[in-house]
Amino acid sequence: MGDSVLDAALTTVGAANDDAPWDRFDSYEYYWHNYGRLRHDDALIIDIVADFFVHCFDRSQPRALAKAIDVGSGTNLYPALAMMPFSSRVTLFERSHTNRQWLIDALVKPQPTWRDEFWSAIAQNRPMYQKIKDPLDVLAGRAWVTKGNVFALQPEQYDLGTMFFVAESITTRDDEFRRATLNFVDSLKPGSPFAAAFMCRSEGYFVGSTFFPACSIDDADVERCLAPVARISQIKRVDSDDLRDGYSGMIIATGWKR
Ligand SMILES: C[S@@+](CC[C@H](N)C(=O)[O-])C[C@H]1O[C@@H](n2cnc3c(N)ncnc32)[C@H](O)[C@@H]1O
Repeated sequence: MGDSVLDAALTTVGAANDDAPWDRFDSYEYYWHNYGRLRHDDALIIDIVADFFVHCFDRSQPRALAKAIDVGSGTNLYPALAMMPFSSRVTLFERSHTNRQWLIDALVKPQPTWRDEFWSAIAQNRPMYQKIKDPLDVLAGRAWVTKGNVFALQPEQYDLGTMFFVAESITTRDDEFRRATLNFVDSLKPGSPFAAAFMCRSEGYFVGSTFFPACSIDDADVERCLAPVARISQIKRVDSDDLRDGYSGMIIATGWKR
């Protein structure tokens, strides 16, 4: 049996977060497959998230810039970019050593698509974003790549947060999906806005030749988990079927911590 088949077998049979080989996460493979270009599903999610944040922060009264967090950043810079106009600091909170190194490298020398495709989509028709002329330079100045575990996040630390494709994509266990989602929301101060994205009914996924676990959830599971701890703005299913096998679209949730 090859390593990847063995990994797949092990991680589909009840793998907890601690069981998966996060330090073997092939960051470059994941980046190229998921973010080498702007996909239609990410473009739809960007519209929802950027409009939500503009709505939250579009006040006539000036307010202090937020301390923001993106949990499980992986090789995705667009959640952090979407928080840029409203944040003085963005913690990129990541368990995997390979992904933290990728983030450090990408902040110094970002791939051109982050600006040409992702930032263009974020800033299009949104003056609050257009005020930032060099978004990747601004991000590099404000981002802190931090080693961390979602299950050990401290409560009430941040004013704004994102967590994309993490809670359901780091474990096969329902209880860990719920705990990761609740810990993320709990890490925010009361009233803070957030956006969280989830894969719908994911069966797990390969990154290169390594298989990673997932918990099969849908929009009703996300709502059940968030409703007691958040005032929900919207939970929406986004069509997506060409990223890989074994999932049924993406889910984007926006709201405020209660
Ligand atoms: C499917 S990837 C999502 C990456 C990225 N947020 C995105 O939007 O594509 C899951 C990420 O969660 C990270 N991760 C796994 N376990 C974690 C934990 N306990 N705490 C924080 N991050 C974790 C992984 O290293 C990986 O970067």
